[in-house]
Parts: sequence; C-alpha cells; structure tokens
Amino acid sequence: MLIAQISDLHVTAPDARRTTAYDNNARLAAAVAHLNALEPRPDLVLITGDLVNGPKPGEYEALTEILEPLAIPYRIVAGNHDDRDRLRRTFGAANWMPVDGDFIQYAVEEFPVRVLVLDSVVAGKAVGALCERRLAWTAERLAEQPGRPTIVALHHPPFDTGLAFLDTLRCIEGAEELGRLVRAHPNVLAVLCGHTHRQTAVSWNGTYGYVAPSVAYQVALDLTPEPPYRWTEEPSAVALHLVRPDVGLITHLSPVGDYPAKAFS
Ligand SMILES: [Fe+2]
Ligand SMILES: [Fe+2]
Repeated sequence: MLIAQISDLHVTAPDARRTTAYDNNARLAAAVAHLNALEPRPDLVLITGDLVNGPKPGEYEALTEILEPLAIPYRIVAGNHDDRDRLRRTFGAANWMPVDGDFIQYAVEEFPVRVLVLDSVVAGKAVGALCERRLAWTAERLAEQPGRPTIVALHHPPFDTGLAFLDTLRCIEGAEELGRLVRAHPNVLAVLCGHTHRQTAVSWNGTYGYVAPSVAYQVALDLTPEPPYRWTEEPSAVALHLVRPDVGLITHLSPVGDYPAKAFS
C-alpha cells in the first residue's frame, strides 16, 4: 500500500495577509496536481492537520475548492489552526467524518493498513494534548485488532524533533501514555504527524515517528538551543510512505515542482 502524506496546508481566505512570500492556496493546488500525477498513484492521501490558516471565514470554502480535483481518497486530521465544527461541516457529507462527539477521532478501516486518526487539538492553543478520553478511545481501538498493521496519525508530534521552539508546542500532555500504548502494540507501524513544518524522522517507543513537511512553507532547520523562528524557501513536498507490513514504512520525499528525471551522460 502506498500512502501519501501532506500536512499543514494553511489555506487562507482570498483577501488574507500572507505570512511568508508564498500563496498557500496556490501551493496546495500545485500539491494536488502533483499527487494526481504520481505513478504509481497512492491509495490514500493522509492530511495531517492545519488545513486552514485561521480559522477565518472563507477558508474552508477555499479548501474544498482546491481539494476538489484530488483524484485519490483522502482523510483528514484536525490541527491547531483548524476548527472542529467547521471541519465537521466541510467534510460532514463524507462517510468517514465523525459527526458528533467532542473530538475528531476515527478509524480508517477500508485499506490493508488500518489508520487511527487522533485529535491532539487544545482549543485556542498551539500546543497539543491527548486527554484521558482520547487516550481511552485509542486504547480501545488498538485492543480491537491487535494483529493488524496500524498507523497512528495525529497533528502534534508526541515526541521531540530537536527543533527547540517547536518542541515546546508539541503534544505534551498524554504523550507518554500514548508512547506506552504504542510500545504495547508492536502492530503500530508508525506514528505520523505534522505541525512543525519540517520533515523529521525519529525512533520512538519501538516504532517509527515521522513529521511530514508542510505544503505551505518550511520552517528553517536550526538545531541550536534557542533558534529564531524563521521560514525558508525550501520547496513544499509530499511524503510517500510505502507500507510493507513485513518491514514497516519506507518513506520518500517528493518535492512539489518541476524536477524531471534525466538520463546520466
Ligand atoms: Fe502548521
Ligand atoms: Fe500546527
């Protein structure tokens, strides 16, 4: 199975002020065209949160319009820039979106690999958390199918990335408990996240932790203890996870842009 992961789209309303040099909506449209052109075509696109930049009026309408040409099934994860009610309204017609409950947590069952989508959002805050109810839901789902290859997806990484400022804004409350759950379930092949706008891979509690790059803009790489928070002109990119239940995940980065393959001279 091939899973494409995109993250941190930060779609804006048409008249919004830009926070970088980029038009986030144009970057997402380019990513959608890129995904549609991939060969082989991914089976699933996992969008790991911060679908919009606000939330502000008009953003989810713009998001729907830009995602409309995506020819691959997709599932979304809520991020700190999202609004749960607007997410429910936007994607409520899809049979996978839970329409009630306080959190947007659901299991994706219809592919060879099961995906558990968790909601690490704390309303009004950038930092993430998993409360007892969300952890209990996760434990129940994992107990249901202990032998089935499973991916856990949540917006905020529950692990450090080495990016000091962003590590203060990761999923902190509940992260250790999630780690214990993951360690107790060796069928969890990976924990896939977004939020930091910078690709990072880590080993964590016996599994593979991965943070996808942003479609909108990348945060500058700076591993010093107190780095300034800056963006960089690195291209937006799609992560491609080749899921091999016998191995785990094999991740490749596919930058969005014109990088044609050429014969060696
Ligand atoms: Fe983000
Ligand atoms: Fe975020």
